[in-house]
Amino acid sequence: MGAGTQSPSAGSSTDYSGVVGEVLDVDGLLADPAIRIVVCCGAGGVGKTTTAAAIGLRAAEVHGRRTVVLTIDPARRLAQSMGLSELDNTPRQVKGIDGENGGELHAMMLDMKRTFDEVVQQHTTPQRAAEIFANPFYQAMSSTFAGTQEYMAMEKLGQLRSADEWDLIVVDTPPSRSALDFLDAPARLSRFLDGRMLRMLLAPARSGGRSMFSLVTASFGLFSRTVQKVLGAQLLTDLSGFVAALDSMFGGFRQRADETYRILQDPQTAFLLVAAPERDAVREAAYFAERLVAERMPLAGLVLNRMHRSEVTGLPAEESEAAADELDAAGENQLTAGALRIHANLVRQTEREQRVAATFTDAFPAVPAVSVTAQPADVHDVDGLRTIGALLA
Ligand SMILES: Nc1ncnc2c1ncn2[C@@H]1O[C@H](COP(=O)(O)OP(=O)(O)OP(=O)(O)O)[C@@H](O)[C@H]1O
Ligand SMILES: [Mg+2]
Repeated sequence: MGAGTQSPSAGSSTDYSGVVGEVLDVDGLLADPAIRIVVCCGAGGVGKTTTAAAIGLRAAEVHGRRTVVLTIDPARRLAQSMGLSELDNTPRQVKGIDGENGGELHAMMLDMKRTFDEVVQQHTTPQRAAEIFANPFYQAMSSTFAGTQEYMAMEKLGQLRSADEWDLIVVDTPPSRSALDFLDAPARLSRFLDGRMLRMLLAPARSGGRSMFSLVTASFGLFSRTVQKVLGAQLLTDLSGFVAALDSMFGGFRQRADETYRILQDPQTAFLLVAAPERDAVREAAYFAERLVAERMPLAGLVLNRMHRSEVTGLPAEESEAAADELDAAGENQLTAGALRIHANLVRQTEREQRVAATFTDAFPAVPAVSVTAQPADVHDVDGLRTIGALLA
């Protein structure tokens, strides 16, 4: 991969001479039939959901692909922007898009509890499923356990992919504090579901503390008595029942998490890292990029979202400010002086953003990047998504 594909004279909104390295070819990616999954990840609030929706729309309208966008957007902004009154656990077709190329856009919002319920139903008998659903631990875990959302996103992705009815699946990732949660949480959760720790905790209670490993069981007995005191005996019984009920599914959970992990490593997948041009978001993106490289997951590129740009070129901040000072000193043309100062601030901001962005592109020169300009207002309809899609491509 070589640098220099970026044309400084192109004058497009996505042209930033300050951002070095190769420009990400989003259209090339979306047109490639071998690409079946695009994962939009990044820190909280940077524009993952917006990017996922814009990419899905473009894949459908411009590239004629039958696309589904799996979003995780509890704020439901996406449902609104797609004109869907309902966005739930099954894909719904988005109306009012240009389907001339034969493309279709479907969208769904992950309902982690329903997804978890479905998984349980698929892997056990109706009676067992009913027991599990009634268990307070299951109820708590399926709706609030940290990591369940990420785990169920992977589960849903696995389901969508194995159904094989989509040309392209665009995945939005949960609004986690850290982008890495998406990769870490499933393993954490399956370790929990694996129940080794819970079984150890419960073992002394079951064996009555009589075991070859008396020292170990004695200390665990003490541990479980303490837990019992803190959590209450009923809770421990619930926990024990939950673990026993899930026992038959441990293998299944782990196995599917591993399978989805392998899909994420496959060349059919493209990760798009979304970042705002702010120090923390870019640092987060760099951690994530390192991790993707380490996990051998295909990082397609970086989306620098909400970048600023000045329409006026060739007037540096210093000159603009000096001119404003002169006008002020002469006591004339206040309006022009004000405009010159606004321009100077915008140029400074643009330069600052490019410096921040460059910390990523310097560290990962092989990762292509694309910039998307900050829109004057939030993206709240299909037209807005179309604009973002065009800026991306
Ligand atoms: N380029 C842009 N210009 C203007 N507004 C934008 C742009 N990109 C995103 N937004 C707006 O920023 C807000 C946050 O975007 P979005 O919901 O896509 O972020 P997110 O990364 O999915 O957030 P979360 O981590 O909470 O899920 C939304 O209101 C969206 O409309
Ligand atoms: Mg989001």
